[in-house]
Amino acid sequence: MLIRNNDDGFIHPLSSEITSKDAYSTRRELLRQWSAGAAAAGLAGWGHREAFAQGNAAAKLAALPASQSAVQGAMTVEKLTSQKDATTYNNFYEFGTDKSDPARQAHTLKTSPWTIEVEGLVKKPTRFNLEDIMKWGAMQERIYRLRCVEGWSMVIPWIGYSMSDLIKRVEPLPGAKFVEFVTQADSQTMPGLRGGFLDWPYVEGLRMDEAMHPLTLLTFGMYGEVLPKQNGAPVRLVVPWKYGFKSGKSIVKIRFVDKQPVVSWAKAAPQEYGFYSNVNPTVDHPRWSQASERRIGEGGLLDKKRKTLMFNGYEAQVASMYTGMDLVKNF
Ligand code: MTE
Repeated sequence: MLIRNNDDGFIHPLSSEITSKDAYSTRRELLRQWSAGAAAAGLAGWGHREAFAQGNAAAKLAALPASQSAVQGAMTVEKLTSQKDATTYNNFYEFGTDKSDPARQAHTLKTSPWTIEVEGLVKKPTRFNLEDIMKWGAMQERIYRLRCVEGWSMVIPWIGYSMSDLIKRVEPLPGAKFVEFVTQADSQTMPGLRGGFLDWPYVEGLRMDEAMHPLTLLTFGMYGEVLPKQNGAPVRLVVPWKYGFKSGKSIVKIRFVDKQPVVSWAKAAPQEYGFYSNVNPTVDHPRWSQASERRIGEGGLLDKKRKTLMFNGYEAQVASMYTGMDLVKNF
């Protein structure tokens, strides 16, 4: 983002390693069995506290049962990014500014106990712990593209609940127009905080209709397992039609507000990052084009890039939320 300023604006991907199809189908089959009726049993038998306490690169992560799901035809059928690439090539500035830093350093993140505090303009301000949330029923697996503003993308099988499941539980008041997501900021466990790179905590936000959109996923896992720490354990957001930085990691507070929140990147560089940050190949970043992207794990630096799709390919699902809006002004 701010730190990577190569001539073409792109960063250098790791060498490609695609998860073998067999390994992935086995996991898929497991997920299918769970979703066919064993999901509740799977959850009941799962030591949540223990599972979420794990998460460093070396530990075997707990399986997270989920049923397959797609939103209004938005199932992505592209080849998945390998789990290795998705868990070793990360942006999580609380653990350093290099792509490899989070996988090396995020093991210090303490994910248990963990509470998400919901406050602001809601009828029912609530403190959810992970055990409460797991009782909501079967989670869903959604394969989404994640497109980073830096010009790379991945395809990842995420696991979670629609954000709207949480929102409905806390009953927003009519004055609630935006949702602010505040993420963990603990200088004891997050070495990146000492650098003062951003104004911590990392804050993101969505308009209410965006937060309620069925594609917006409150995410607890990926690749059939609980989230690794470097990917935002124990809970993060995934908003697939927006640039990756809108998907805040390690969320501790969700606040319902009447004014558009001041979000971290827009605060750091308002001329470069706006509140909406919808993936849009026709609106360039001031320092580089957004017209194409490099799929991580696919080919080398000299290989042809892919064309970036409007709203990251989710135009049919989300475009109506922006009818009549000037997307150049509201970037
Ligand atoms: N969340 C927090 N708390 N801190 C961060 O630095 N980086 C964002 C987003 N969420 C970030 C964050 C950016 S820039 C991107 S592209 C995605 O996380 C990357 O998610 P991934 O590492 O799982 O691919």
